[in-house]
Amino acid sequence: MSQNPENDFVYTTPRHVGIIMDGNGRWAQRRMLPRSHGHKAGVDALKKTVRAAREFGIEYLTLFSFSSENWSRPEGEISELFALLRLFIRRDLAELHKNNICVRVIGSSEGLPSDVLNLLVEAENLTRNNDAQVLVIAFNYGARDEIARAMKLIAKKVKNDEISSDEIDSQLISDHLDTKGIPDPDMIIRTSGEKRLSNFLMWQATYSELIFVDCLWPEFDKSTLSDCLVEYGNRNRKFGGLVKDTAS
Ligand code: FPP
Repeated sequence: MSQNPENDFVYTTPRHVGIIMDGNGRWAQRRMLPRSHGHKAGVDALKKTVRAAREFGIEYLTLFSFSSENWSRPEGEISELFALLRLFIRRDLAELHKNNICVRVIGSSEGLPSDVLNLLVEAENLTRNNDAQVLVIAFNYGARDEIARAMKLIAKKVKNDEISSDEIDSQLISDHLDTKGIPDPDMIIRTSGEKRLSNFLMWQATYSELIFVDCLWPEFDKSTLSDCLVEYGNRNRKFGGLVKDTAS
C-alpha cells in the first residue's frame, strides 16, 4: 500500500503498468497541426509519465511506442517516429541513467535501421544495473510476433534435444518471451477512448486490469495516472479464484 502525498488517498500500487499511448494524431488534428506535432507532444507526455510513475512507486512501466502494425503508416510518419526515438535516447538517456532507471527494449529488431538498433542496445547496456525502476520500451513490438519468435526458439531447443516437449508449460513459454524476468502487468491503460489491446502484451495481460481513459495521449499527466491508480485500487483481482470476502 502507498500513500499519495498530493491527493491524500491510500492505494495499492501496481508493480507493473503498461500503457498504450493512443491519440497523438487526433490531438494534432484537433489543433489543425500536422500529426508529427502530436507525436512530439506524445514524447513530452511520455517523459512526464515516467517521472510520475517513479514518484508513485511503480517498479515497471512498459510503453507501447511503435507496434509491428505501425509499418503500414506513411513512410514519413514512420521516419518521424524513428527520429523521435533517436532524439529521446540521445537527449534523455543520461537523465534516465542518473535517476537509476533500467531501460529494457522489447520487440523485433527486424526492419529497424541499424543506428536505431545501436541506440536501443546502448540504452540497455548503459542502464543494465540500475534498480530504481524498469522502463520497458516496446518498439517494433507485436504480441503475436513475440509469441511466434518464442515458439521458434522453443522448437529449436526441442529439435536439438536441449528440452523435451513434455517440459513445455506456461512458465517455459513466459521465459522465452521478450519480457523474460519482468512480472506480468497488473494494470494496462489505453488512452483516447479506444477499448482494445491491439496486439500489446497479449500473453502477459491474462489477469491485467484494463483501464480505458478518454483523454488523448498528449493530455495524459500525473493526475490522470493517479485517477487510474484509484480505479485500479477499486478493482477486485481474483486471478480465477474467489474474492477474499466471499472465499469462506
Ligand atoms: C498512437 O497515436 C501513438 C503511436 C503510434 C506512437 C506512440 C509514440 C509516441 C508517444 C512518441 C514516440 C516516442 C518514442 C520514445 C519513440 P496515433 O498516431 O495512433 O493517434 P491517432 O489514433 O489519434 O491517429
